Amino acid sequence: MDLAKVERVYTSYAGVYDRIFGKVFHEGRESAIRNLNVQPDEKILEVGIGTGLALPMYPRHCQIVGIDFSEGMLNKAKQRAAEHRMGHVELHRMDAGAMEFKDDSFDTVVAAYVVTAVPDYRKVVSEMIRVCRPGGRIIMLNHFSNDNKIIAAIEKVISPLTKHLGWRTDLSLQTVLDGTSLHVARKQNVNPLQLWALVECVNGKNGNGKTHINGVKNGSGAAAYAHINGTHLPEHANGQALV
Ligand SMILES: C[S@@+](CC[C@H](N)C(=O)[O-])C[C@H]1O[C@@H](n2cnc3c(N)ncnc32)[C@H](O)[C@@H]1O
Repeated sequence: MDLAKVERVYTSYAGVYDRIFGKVFHEGRESAIRNLNVQPDEKILEVGIGTGLALPMYPRHCQIVGIDFSEGMLNKAKQRAAEHRMGHVELHRMDAGAMEFKDDSFDTVVAAYVVTAVPDYRKVVSEMIRVCRPGGRIIMLNHFSNDNKIIAAIEKVISPLTKHLGWRTDLSLQTVLDGTSLHVARKQNVNPLQLWALVECVNGKNGNGKTHINGVKNGSGAAAYAHINGTHLPEHANGQALV
């Protein structure tokens, strides 16, 4: 899939997207944002924001920037932001694989159902890391290929077909994380049949695994994440699998 196809496929979905993918993926979006414990004035970037289904879930005390490459999807998000009078939201048409933001511009970067829908996930993940500050949070909500070898083989076979629909099914979380500075702080299965994963990572860039949050140097990404949320790792709210 290239960017022209992203524009074509997703703009063709724009009018029906909320009806098809709204309710069914709602739980995942809500879990992702509810657990963020957003601080006043926190700067949040949502990449591949689509029609902006998650926008009403963020508290109004933060600043949200949303980007999407599909003009049709973005126009729907703009309508939603205007209807809800969201003065704290900015929306731009932009390629998540080559963002126009400066390094370290955001505290938190969210990608909901995006990493497997982009032409080049490596570029997008590397850009998310670049624009997120060291010690900031990177949240990926996605279906990743299954650990079960039989299911993974089926996902590999159907991936060339689903690519026509706008996403791939053969990408594993480990492949996405390999070689990055991301430390997984929490992973939770969500949505029907628990087939999607909500993965919350700490951006460990510039620190050889060490991260800085509010001037505090933490020994590991997971500890840093717990620090942001004011929780201790074993007791993280709703955390089902700390790794
Ligand atoms: C499956 S939709 C997810 C939309 C939304 N995040 C949600 O929760 O429903 C994937 C979105 O990623 C966008 N997208 C795909 N590749 C992109 C890229 N390179 N840059 C920006 N947006 C991209 C598509 O236009 C589409 O709106």
